[in-house]
Formats: sequence, structure tokens, C-alpha cells
Amino acid sequence: MKHDIQTRDDLFLLVKTFYEKLFADELLQTIFIDVAKIKLEEHLPILVDFWDSILLDGDTYRRNQMEKHTELNKKFRLEKQHFDQWIFLWNQTIDELFIGEKAEHAKFRAKSIADIMSYKMDYLNKEL
Ligand code: HEM
Repeated sequence: MKHDIQTRDDLFLLVKTFYEKLFADELLQTIFIDVAKIKLEEHLPILVDFWDSILLDGDTYRRNQMEKHTELNKKFRLEKQHFDQWIFLWNQTIDELFIGEKAEHAKFRAKSIADIMSYKMDYLNKEL
């Protein structure tokens, strides 16, 4: 039976499953594997903190996630197609694992952030 996102263990399962999809995705895998050279054992706990602060009132994320993406964009131009695919896989992961208010909120917030990020990257890329 699916349930809502309730604990940090739920968040860990969510981001781990999501990253398995990102790493297997034809369009996005190169950004994570070759460009950013993500080390999952370091990266996943940061993402758990980030989503904890949004969904479960956690207070451990003290970093600037937008800056990470503007830096990444200098090495690999992030375009609308990348954000659309990121959101597609995020929503798919959530729907496979969870159901409920927090699950819906996680989809809603990710889309809002992706829209702002995409707008910002477009703006920066036009200036280059
Ligand atoms: C095209 C879409 C995206 C791509 C390719 C992407 C890629 C990445 C990469 C490679 C990193 C690691 C950067 C580093 O450690 O140097 C990262 C970090 C992160 N991303 Fe994304 N991302 C995307 C969209 C998003 C969205 C929409 C969100 C939020 C809903 C998000 C949230 C985060 C967070 C919280 C981190 C951790 C930042 C930190 O270290 O504090 N990303 N992303």
C-alpha cells in the first residue's frame, strides 16, 4: 500500500530512486555522471535535507541550491528540455512510491523551482 511522504527515510528512498532514474536517462545522465561527477553518498543526504526543509519542516539545509545550478550551467547549458525531463522523472518517481498531500506538494514545489531555474538559465544563456 502506498502512503504519503512522512519521514526522512521516505525522503531518502525518494531521492535515491529518482537518482537511479536520472543516472539511467539518455538526456540527463551525462550531466550528473560526466559533468558534475556526482558522488551519491555525499549528494543524497544534501537532497534529503533540502526536501526535509520543504516538506517536513526540517531545518538542516543551509546551502544555496540556485548557485549550484548557475555554476553547473556554465559547464553544461541547461535548457527547457532538461528541466522538462527532470520534472517528468521526479513526478514519475513520486507517483510510483507515494500518495497524499505531501507527495502532491513535492511535485508542485519542484515544478515551481524548475520554472524559476529554467527562466534564470535562459536569461543567463542569452547574455553569453
Ligand atoms: C535540468 C534540471 C536539473 C539538473 C540537470 C540538475 C543537476 C544538478 C547537479 C549536477 C547537482 C550537483 C551540483 C554540485 O554539487 O556541484 C544538483 C544539485 C542540486 N539540485 Fe539540481 N538539477 C536540476 C534541477 C533541479 C531542481 C528543479 C531542483 C529543485 C526542485 C534541484 C535541486 C537540487 C538541490 C537541492 C541540489 C543540491 C545543491 C547543494 O549542493 O546544496 N535541481 N543538481
